[in-house]
Amino acid sequence: MVAAPTPEDRFSFGLWTVSWRARDPFGDPTRAPLDPIEAIERLAEAGAWGVTFHDDDLIPFGSDAATRDRLIAGFRDACAQHNITIEMVTTNLFTHPVFKDGGLTSNDRSVRRFALRKVLRNVELTADLGARTFVMWGGREGSEYDGSKDIAAALDRYREGVDTIAGYITDKGYDIKIALEPKPNEPRGDILLPTVGHALGFIATLEHGDIVGLNPEVGHEQMAGLNYTHGIAQALWSGKLFHLDLNGQRSIKYDQDLVFGHGDLLSAFFTVDLLENGFPNGGPRYTGPRHFDYKPSRTEGYDGVWASVRANMATYLLLKERTLAFRADPEVQQAMAASGIAELAKPTLSQGESVADLLADRSAFEDFDADKVGEHSYGFVYLNQLAVEHALGGR
Ligand code: GCO
Ligand code: MN
Ligand code: MN
Repeated sequence: MVAAPTPEDRFSFGLWTVSWRARDPFGDPTRAPLDPIEAIERLAEAGAWGVTFHDDDLIPFGSDAATRDRLIAGFRDACAQHNITIEMVTTNLFTHPVFKDGGLTSNDRSVRRFALRKVLRNVELTADLGARTFVMWGGREGSEYDGSKDIAAALDRYREGVDTIAGYITDKGYDIKIALEPKPNEPRGDILLPTVGHALGFIATLEHGDIVGLNPEVGHEQMAGLNYTHGIAQALWSGKLFHLDLNGQRSIKYDQDLVFGHGDLLSAFFTVDLLENGFPNGGPRYTGPRHFDYKPSRTEGYDGVWASVRANMATYLLLKERTLAFRADPEVQQAMAASGIAELAKPTLSQGESVADLLADRSAFEDFDADKVGEHSYGFVYLNQLAVEHALGGR
C-alpha cells in the first residue's frame, strides 16, 4: 500500500511540468493546452501541497497590463480555493528568440538590460504572491562555441545580474531567497554554472551571497555524470540547499526529466534518505518543499499526466518509508558502526592537539603499520546490500 500524500509532505510541482504539451525537437505537441486553473484543481486533487511557475507559464510573453492582472488574479484565487501554496516563482529567460544568446550574459547589452527588467518585475510578483523562493535557471547563459563568449566577462555580468537582483530583494526587505539551478548543457551546448560545485564557487564571490543558494536538479547533476546525493549534501553542508528539483535521469544523455525514481532508483533512495533522515552523524537538515520538475512523457495523454503526478509523490513516499526502516533496522545500525560511519565524525586531531603534537606522535607515522591497517575490511558492500534489500521491500 502506498501512503497518500498530505500537506505536511509539502509536495509541489512546476506548472510547466503538467502543462508541457510534449513538443520535442523532432515532433509536434501530443497534448492539448492545459488551463492553469485546471492544473491547480488537478494538482490539489492528486494531493499536491504547492505549485511553482515561470512568469510566462501564466502570463504569455508580451501580454498587456490588464491581461496580466486578470491572469494573476485568477491564478491566485484558484490556488487559495484549492489550498495550493505558491512556494516558488521563476523567470523565463530562455523561450523568446531575444534570449538566444542568454539573458543576463548575452553579448548584447540591451538584451541584458531587458532580462534584468523582466526578472525584477517578476521579483515584485513573487513578493506579492508571498512565495519565498526565486529560482534562477540560466538555461541560455552559455555558448556553443568557445570562441564566441569571453567567459570571464560573462561571469562578471552573471555576478552583476545576480547581485543586482539580490540587492534589490534585500533593499526592499522581501522575505525571498534566490536559488540558482545548475545544468551542464541543453539548450546551450555548454551552460555557465554547469554543476552544484561551480555554482557554490560562484555564490562565494557575490556581494549579496547571503540570500543566494541552490536549486539542484537530479537529472542535471546526473547528466554531468555526478552523484546528486553528494551534490545536495555539499550544498546542505554549505548552508546553501534552498530548494530542489526532483526527477529521474538514466545516465549521461539529454535531459530526460523522468518521474522521480524512474532513473537511478538506488540513488533516489539515498537522496530521500538524506532529505528525510539527515546525515548519519547529524548536521544541517533540508526543510524546504519536495518539488518535482519532470516532464510527463510524450507518449502520455492527460490520464498519463495525472498518473505521473501521483507517481512522483508515491515513489517519494515509498522511499521515505523504506529509508526510515533502513535507519531503524538494528542490523543496519550495526553494519554502519562496523563500517566506521560514526568514526568519521571524530576530528582527526584530538582536542587541543597541535601540528607539533601530531608530528611528535610516532604511532601516527613512524610506528604506524600501514600494511596491517591496509587490511582493514570496511564492510561497505554488506551495508549497501542492506540498503538494496530495504529498498526492494525484502526487509
Ligand atoms: C530545465 C530546467 C527548468 C528549470 C525551470 C525553473 O532543464 O528545463 O530544469 O525546468 O527548472 O526553468 O527555472
Ligand atoms: Mn531539467
Ligand atoms: Mn529544473
